[in-house]
Amino acid sequence: MRKKIVAGNWKMNKTLADGIELAKTVNRQVEENSVIVVLCTPFIHLSEVNKVITKDSLFLGAQNCSSEASGAFTGEVSAQMIRSTGADYVIIGHSERRSYYHEVDSLLNKKVKLALENDLIPIFCCGEILKERQAGNHIQVVKTQIKNGLFDLPVEDFIKVVIAYEPVWAIGTGVNATAEQAQEMHKIIRDLIADRYGNQIADNTSILYGGSCKPSNAKELFTNPDVDGGLIGGASLTSSDFMGIVNAFTEI
Ligand code: PGA
Repeated sequence: MRKKIVAGNWKMNKTLADGIELAKTVNRQVEENSVIVVLCTPFIHLSEVNKVITKDSLFLGAQNCSSEASGAFTGEVSAQMIRSTGADYVIIGHSERRSYYHEVDSLLNKKVKLALENDLIPIFCCGEILKERQAGNHIQVVKTQIKNGLFDLPVEDFIKVVIAYEPVWAIGTGVNATAEQAQEMHKIIRDLIADRYGNQIADNTSILYGGSCKPSNAKELFTNPDVDGGLIGGASLTSSDFMGIVNAFTEI
């Protein structure tokens, strides 16, 4: 059975004190059930947030890692360092990294491999911009991102990867993909994985939806057969919204 996951992406928000407070509240409210909850915090929060996590279903993640293993790369943070804080997950290829920091598929592929080498689970993001959807190229764009980012991984590595489909036009805009649009793309991604790695692997891959997911639409999105949870930005910054999304699974 593939895992149900709700991951919060705090982005560049929260002081250390505020982040610890939020993590404490989430830790208190998370129920030990079948949903995996991940807090993807800024780098500097990681080890402190790790100290407040006591629940077996709550995990820590970073939002990025370096494409280099170690050495003279001022300002960078390596996958090994992230792992050493107690984190289990790392977001790779978020659209903000792709667009503002010009991270291309080949670089993201290096990051995925370094994450895996250091026992981190990559949450690999893909998604089209509005122009690409309007031009009818969205399916091709997402397929290319996944092929280039992931498909040279051997099967024993690929099975560890979590995928997040995040249409860029839905991120932070308040306009989420409809349940139909999400399901359509998630199914396409799963079929693509099946072509490359086989049906069983595809069936076991968790594919999350991201982009203006909130308590009011989470249930409708998560009910779809190929939507296995969410990557949550804005709504992960308050415990009530975030837990509202996590708890949407219990209503399904
Ligand atoms: P959003 O962001 O939930 O604020 O739209 C999602 C993301 O960027 O991962």
